[in-house]
Amino acid sequence: MGSRSMRPASARSAAGGISKGRLCGELSLVQGELLGEDARRPDAASHPAEFTYTATWRPAPLTPTGDDAPAGPVLILYTPAGRPLADALAVRHIADGVVHVELGTVTRQSAPGRWELDATAPDAPAALRDTLPRPRTVYFLGGLRAAAEDGPAELDRAEESGVRALFRCAQQLVIPAAATRPTDWRIVTNDAWPVAGGRVVNPYAAALAGMARVLENEHRHWSVPVVDLGLAGHLPGPAGSRRHELAALVIAEPAERGARVAHRDGVRYRQALRPVTLPPADATVIRTGGTYAVVGGAGGIGLEMARFLARDHGARVALIGRSPLDEDRRRRIADADPDGSRLLYVRADASDEDGLRAGLARVHERFGPVHGVFHSALDHTAALVRHLDDSALRAGLAAKSGVSVALAAAFRAEPLDFLLFFSSAQSFLGDPGLAGYAAGSTFQDAYAHALDQRLPFPVRSIDWGYWGTVGAVSGEGHREWLTRQGFRSISPREGWDTVLRTLAGPETQVLALPAEDVLLKRLGLGGGQPAAYAQPSAPVAVPATARIR
Ligand SMILES: NC(=O)c1ccc[n+]([C@@H]2O[C@H](COP(=O)([O-])OP(=O)(O)OC[C@H]3O[C@@H](n4cnc5c(N)ncnc54)[C@H](OP(=O)(O)O)[C@@H]3O)[C@@H](O)[C@H]2O)c1
Repeated sequence: MGSRSMRPASARSAAGGISKGRLCGELSLVQGELLGEDARRPDAASHPAEFTYTATWRPAPLTPTGDDAPAGPVLILYTPAGRPLADALAVRHIADGVVHVELGTVTRQSAPGRWELDATAPDAPAALRDTLPRPRTVYFLGGLRAAAEDGPAELDRAEESGVRALFRCAQQLVIPAAATRPTDWRIVTNDAWPVAGGRVVNPYAAALAGMARVLENEHRHWSVPVVDLGLAGHLPGPAGSRRHELAALVIAEPAERGARVAHRDGVRYRQALRPVTLPPADATVIRTGGTYAVVGGAGGIGLEMARFLARDHGARVALIGRSPLDEDRRRRIADADPDGSRLLYVRADASDEDGLRAGLARVHERFGPVHGVFHSALDHTAALVRHLDDSALRAGLAAKSGVSVALAAAFRAEPLDFLLFFSSAQSFLGDPGLAGYAAGSTFQDAYAHALDQRLPFPVRSIDWGYWGTVGAVSGEGHREWLTRQGFRSISPREGWDTVLRTLAGPETQVLALPAEDVLLKRLGLGGGQPAAYAQPSAPVAVPATARIR
């Protein structure tokens, strides 16, 4: 957990003399209408004062139950780097019938009970569908990685054998065989989370935790716990006893739904949420007259951020988005910046490092160096994993993990006071239909921890609940569905205060979730079982495959 707060040396308290802009302008958004600020206030009035939480890892010794692991075929999916652990797991399941599937670059049978699967080919797992036995237990080791360089190419490799491989194998191998049968998964990762003060050297694996949660919520007979091993970036080799000790830890994990567990130096930990009171909003975390970049800045929440930056802090803001600057965007931006001096729309795909650098050059030309970055991008297709298209998953991940990694690379030389990711409460909830989104969100959280540990400025991730008046889910249909789940809307003013308070405080990751008890209990808050992230209380209506962007 980071411990720095932000106070730019050059911060001044007086706001610049900019026009406030029309607060009640009608903004046509993806799914709704942006109401004037006053119209948003009633939501705020009914909220409790504090709605912020943070994720912690608490020691949680395992109590042996004496239950035997279920008998039946065991499927082990792994990369070459994970082979020693896969073999050690297989030894312990010798009586169950083990099928090894190694994620590589060809699809073929290499030996009896051993297959290779082309992880670069989206449809490859389907070729094995009728050949492999229906699994009772599945180990997914595709997230195991030695410490490596950070960057877009490394992310692509990690996602190929990690979250994209999990998605494809679940969709094409396990769902067709066992969608309605008890199936115990174990997703094994290493060094993905900041447990017991350890370094996060493999944040890429954290995307698996978000997808695991969704797989569970879409299949009520499945358990998909995630076990993160503390290896300090060194995977076990094929010799020695280490791989067997690690296999014993993994096999000892109960098939518990919703569990996120970590092992560090002989201690077992569980992820849990705890309420956190952030420091009061501190306007000096934003430089008066500073320059900021908001990826997704022409979107619902992004434009609100830009509006507060420009109006309250006299800041200049680059709004980065892929779409052309059409009439609608022009009108909404003009509404937030009537004299056109504060906001600049920069067209770029922020998941592409080169495109982002070209965009940054334009920002330098117009405004000079950038002092802070907001990641407010989203491109998501809501669909159950069984129906989700491979390219839609990739697009969704690109907007989250791809943009986050490209931002860290392209803005490395900027004099940043902070880098702030907008992640989602879906990191913890993992509702049906949101596999790519939840995966992208857990990635952002872990990546914020990793960057915060190694960059000279604070990196933060806010897991937002529901913004009901602006943004991708501000339409009436979403309001009804989310209100039924127990979400309460965050108003733009509350959101902005939460941003200022998060930037002023020490927590790297903040869950900002105004909610009814029913939703808090799902998260182990408000009297529920800690961290036993339960299923949705009512069936969650998954919108027909719908693109939210
Ligand atoms: N709305 C909520 O209730 C809510 C809840 C939890 C978390 N959040 C988070 O808050 C953030 C903003 O959400 P929102 O509701 O404001 O979404 P939004 O209105 O859909 O805006 C998202 C913006 O991201 C841009 N974008 C997507 N991919 C991009 C890329 N590769 N490069 C540059 N721009 C890209 C899109 O513009 P182009 O398509 O033109 O590129 C779009 O304008 C997201 O990170 C979301 O996960 C929102």
